[in-house]
Amino acid sequence: MSILYFSAGDPEKRVLNGLKAALPHHSIEVWPECKDKTNITAAVVWQPPAEFFDGLVNLKSVLSIAAGVDHLLTHPGLPIDVEIVRLTDAGMAEPMAKYALYGVLHAQRKMTELAQAQREKRWRHELAPAATNDFRVGVLGAGELSLVAANGLLMNGFKVSCWSRTEKNLDNITHYAGVAGLDDMLPTVDALVCLLPLTENTRGILNASLFRKLPKNAYIINPGRGDHLNEHDLLEQLDNGHLSGALLDVFATEPLPEQNPLWSHPKVIVTPHLAGPTDADGAVEQIAQSIKELESGARPRGLVNRSAGY
Ligand code: NAP
Ligand code: GLV
Repeated sequence: MSILYFSAGDPEKRVLNGLKAALPHHSIEVWPECKDKTNITAAVVWQPPAEFFDGLVNLKSVLSIAAGVDHLLTHPGLPIDVEIVRLTDAGMAEPMAKYALYGVLHAQRKMTELAQAQREKRWRHELAPAATNDFRVGVLGAGELSLVAANGLLMNGFKVSCWSRTEKNLDNITHYAGVAGLDDMLPTVDALVCLLPLTENTRGILNASLFRKLPKNAYIINPGRGDHLNEHDLLEQLDNGHLSGALLDVFATEPLPEQNPLWSHPKVIVTPHLAGPTDADGAVEQIAQSIKELESGARPRGLVNRSAGY
């Protein structure tokens, strides 16, 4: 395979240099310096620019340096017939689980209200935490990252539910499936973690209608994708007191524009898309393995089913 590389997020070129070391017999060129685009049969990318796919007439496979491939599926230049391979965990699940746990602890310990009380110099001793085994967490997604996050929360004593497309039996986690399942789960959770992929079925899922189905004072944690969230609806439900707060890692526009009201909202914590940062070594190992599997005709674990919305 002749490989073309582009990443909007690998300033130290750790993934690029790692791949060169792991695949010494492959040609790896960097976009846009590539001399002969007709040689290229595979691309390794994160957020490729609009013109990236121009002239790649022999491209067969695109390997994402990320778990989410919405940056590819919504790319206007992506050829219809190329296969897409995404990262599956590759070192991201553990930090992501810690991010979810941090958000849940923040909500359970009423840290948003306590921070406000501190600003007002008020000794609000009544803001005691809920008992851990009474604090209910709902995770949207029961996949690579969401199941590790859900099990981490379970191990910390929380009551955990998960929601996904297909029925699952999970040890000590209540699982809900499909549209009706979501309606059943929402009234039973005090904190909601969104770890869905961004697809046409999940875009805007965190909206007023969903928020209203949550109990009063529920807390939102979104490390999924910015376009899962209707920011206007979130702000409305925070300001009218229905939701107690939100921990947000991803945004419709990144970096989050300076004038966006989320930056300064007292009930919102903003983090700059680093809940589950790419682990360069984990990514290199998995991408190199996937390339070898594609060459031998095997199906890599992260092969994306484009027709199923992945
Ligand atoms: P995954 O393994 O594909 O899991 C996705 C889960 O979502 C699956 O359980 C799937 O259900 C469920 N799902 C998909 N569409 C659904 C729908 N329409 N209704 C209900 N459930 C649906 O994905 P992952 O590797 O865990 O990654 C999840 C997302 O995390 C990525 O796509 C990315 O957006 C985000 N992410 C963010 C960061 C960060 O730093 N902020 C880092 C990495 C990833 P089934 O199991 O029933 O198929
Ligand atoms: C990061 O956001 C990823 O999808 O891996």
